[in-house]
Amino acid sequence: MIYRFVIYNILFFILLVMASCKHDPDIAGIPIEPPLLIENCDPDTVYFQNEILPLLISSCGVIGCHDPGTATEGVVLTNYASIMQTAEVRPGQPDESDLYEVLTEDDPEDRMPPSPRQSLSLEQIAKIEKWILQGAKNNVCFTNNCDTIAVSYSNHIDPLIQNTCVGCHSGNDPSGGIVLSNYDGVVQVALSGRLLGSVRHEAGFSAMPKNGNKLTDCQITQIKNWIENGTPDN
Ligand code: HEC
Repeated sequence: MIYRFVIYNILFFILLVMASCKHDPDIAGIPIEPPLLIENCDPDTVYFQNEILPLLISSCGVIGCHDPGTATEGVVLTNYASIMQTAEVRPGQPDESDLYEVLTEDDPEDRMPPSPRQSLSLEQIAKIEKWILQGAKNNVCFTNNCDTIAVSYSNHIDPLIQNTCVGCHSGNDPSGGIVLSNYDGVVQVALSGRLLGSVRHEAGFSAMPKNGNKLTDCQITQIKNWIENGTPDN
């Protein structure tokens, strides 16, 4: 009896392991492929891993909203497969895609993200639209010409933080009490050493962006040089 029980358990365990290792090639018709790596970023292309994913993680994929644990209305916005599937993204058709529709709802009650969370800017919404129009690919690009010398707040630091951090670090109840939605807030965190410590994933700091990919070496160097240059507001 006991033997049979043990064998059943072992069999069950093996099945479980096999099931969890099984490559799932196709969720709701969307092939799950590794990201498409592009060597040099094309300024006319919107790249999912560089721009769309960080924005969705910080603005929507947070605890209490669309992280895997909460999954409000079954929608999870923290990785490509679940964004395509649960936010019903139709490549080439933003108006048929739930992800885009909820950002452009006329009724403020239905629009996402709901208040008091900061809404996406028109520029960010346009970026999501463009990405869907360009086929909603799981693409990522690397740039070889990283400008770490002439780093400015308005051209480098602010766009990076708006895209990657502000969804969590703004509004009435910013994460960790840290506000990154304006220059003064960013400078305060920068001068405390916590900005660099957190994006470098140094011991003693919470690793940022929370739940997202680590920033690129280029982005981290830009932040470091901007701080070393005296956090200019240019
Ligand atoms: C998904 C939400 C989320 C995103 C995105 C996010 N943060 Fe955070 N951040 C938090 C939370 C929550 C805390 C509080 C500490 C914790 O829970 O880890 C925090 C804490 C911090 C801290 C304090 C760390 C410390 O150890 O003192 C800094 C600095 C910070 N974040 C900067 C950033 C920066 C810069 C980005 C973007 C590159 C970013 N965060 C993106 C949620 C987020």
